[in-house]
Amino acid sequence: MCGIIGISSNKSVSASIINSLKKLEYRGYDSAGIATLFEGEIKEVKSEGRVDTLEQNFDLKNLKGNIGIGHVRWATHGKPNSVNAHPHSSHNVSVVHNGIIENSTILKKYLTTKGHVFKSQTDTEVIVHLITENLKADDLEIAITKTLNQLHGSFALGIVFKDIPDLIVGARRGSPLAVGYGPNENYLGSDSYALKAMTNKITYLDDGEFCIIKKDQVLFFNEDGIKINKKILKLSSNEVSYEKGDFKHFMAKEIEEQPITIKTGIKEYIDKTNSEINIYNFPWKISEINSITLIGCGTAYHSCMMAKYWFEELTKLDINIDIASEFRYRKNRFKKDSLYIFVSQSGETADTYAALDLCKRNNMKTCAVVNVIESSIARDANFVLPIHCGPEIGVASTKAFLGQILILYILSLKFGSLRNEINKNTYKDKVKELLNLPSLIEKSLLIDNDIQAISSTFNEVKGSMFLGRGFSYPIALEGALKLKELSYVHAEGYPAGEMKHGPLALIEDGMPVVVLAPRDNYYKKTISNMQEVIARGAKVLLITNKSKDEIISENIWETIEVENTNEDLLPFLLTIPLQKLAYYSALKKGYDIDKPRNLAKSVTVE
Ligand code: F6R
Repeated sequence: MCGIIGISSNKSVSASIINSLKKLEYRGYDSAGIATLFEGEIKEVKSEGRVDTLEQNFDLKNLKGNIGIGHVRWATHGKPNSVNAHPHSSHNVSVVHNGIIENSTILKKYLTTKGHVFKSQTDTEVIVHLITENLKADDLEIAITKTLNQLHGSFALGIVFKDIPDLIVGARRGSPLAVGYGPNENYLGSDSYALKAMTNKITYLDDGEFCIIKKDQVLFFNEDGIKINKKILKLSSNEVSYEKGDFKHFMAKEIEEQPITIKTGIKEYIDKTNSEINIYNFPWKISEINSITLIGCGTAYHSCMMAKYWFEELTKLDINIDIASEFRYRKNRFKKDSLYIFVSQSGETADTYAALDLCKRNNMKTCAVVNVIESSIARDANFVLPIHCGPEIGVASTKAFLGQILILYILSLKFGSLRNEINKNTYKDKVKELLNLPSLIEKSLLIDNDIQAISSTFNEVKGSMFLGRGFSYPIALEGALKLKELSYVHAEGYPAGEMKHGPLALIEDGMPVVVLAPRDNYYKKTISNMQEVIARGAKVLLITNKSKDEIISENIWETIEVENTNEDLLPFLLTIPLQKLAYYSALKKGYDIDKPRNLAKSVTVE
């Protein structure tokens, strides 16, 4: 999940490469590097750390050249240091790579026997030497076709050549890659986001394809090296800002943007006048679908889990959920009457994409719930339900989560109504209540003072637990994930009713336990489970909804009350304090909130 940029221009490219790399840092940020071609030489600069560090370490203004490639890395093979940073170069070839070469060890042995010397521990360096070797015997297009066929695994590549100084080669298998068109220059980028500042004209490479980019021409080839034509797409202009504005972090901004996310989703899918849900161009008859499988990773998987509860409540459909990295390798029973829903913010997550690809190869009905509508998952699914939450830059997903669960809730309501499995009046009431959700979220966001004070406790301990039952269980998992990824504190999400089957042994004096107990069908049961952890010394933070009834328990450490609404919608409101808890706890520790250690926003490797 590294970031790649390449520019072929009639002017110096280093400044534009740096700007694009800064945009691409959400894909990886443990090292950065650039290679340009100038006066018949490859000029390579790279360093450990962020693009800012690269700028501090080198005089990049004087890095000349009208052709160049750049890279931000998320380490897979070899430590994150300057030696392993990309580009990797031989005397003639320089490469930036996103992905994993699975047969790199075998290729390295072969290339060593041919006299190639390796400097890094990366799999990427193998590509450099393989191309160098193949160019000894063949012309560029044949050498590239041959090299790509020798590589196993996934890749997006940007390649420049000392002896062919007027072009960049881009190649894709498994990892996304886009070409952009500008005035007197053309570009290569991991995604359209990196290119947006320079152009809105884009072509996406498909799997197996490669391209040759010159300043005034772009040529495309299929995996057999045969020239092909490809369409140029015009990107929609996105009004939502890519800047932090007055916020300290993108995450803080994105949490506060959630009322807008929900408003936009409602505007897109709900006819307010008739209290009706509109899902236009749905390609199948409702009678053709008897089961649904929802697939995603991380936070997106939690959205799938949330959806399972709603679909089961509102329809009689058979609902399955799966983690993409598990689904893709299992012996799945593909059934004709199943709909497969892929949930992803980026639309580029490698495991989710592979699961989609597997379903497509088995002729299944596929639907994508995604944020980035130009993404691979959105382009390849039969049907797309966009989240419309605008760019999410913070690595920890916040507004995309609420956006995903909104769309999935809307879909479950619509299915319930079309299948006559919910009463017409109940359906209308639920749609009407949904219209109040943005203002309820707005009010639930006003808890910063309380949460800030509470958050320190979570930093002082070795572990914490997040408990919930029913609709609150997926939210407990999401809360635990947010805390661990931002604050590096062990946090475990658990169904409250399962504690007595083992995890209760973890509870000791002063351990913080977040209990999600809204006043729903599970309330009394969850409160009993809460008392069991309090009895064993836990410091309980109870998150519930406002009510005239008093809370039926004693010895609770802290309580946060979100607004009141119907049971279906409470998960949206319960999520907010958990996002803020993770945010403030990381803030107090001084951690890098938008770029937590070891992670990246777009996970395009397995
Ligand atoms: C956690 C988080 C990740 C992503 C996961 C899937 O805060 O953001 O767990 O949810 O990597 O990413 P997408 O949604 O882009 O497929």
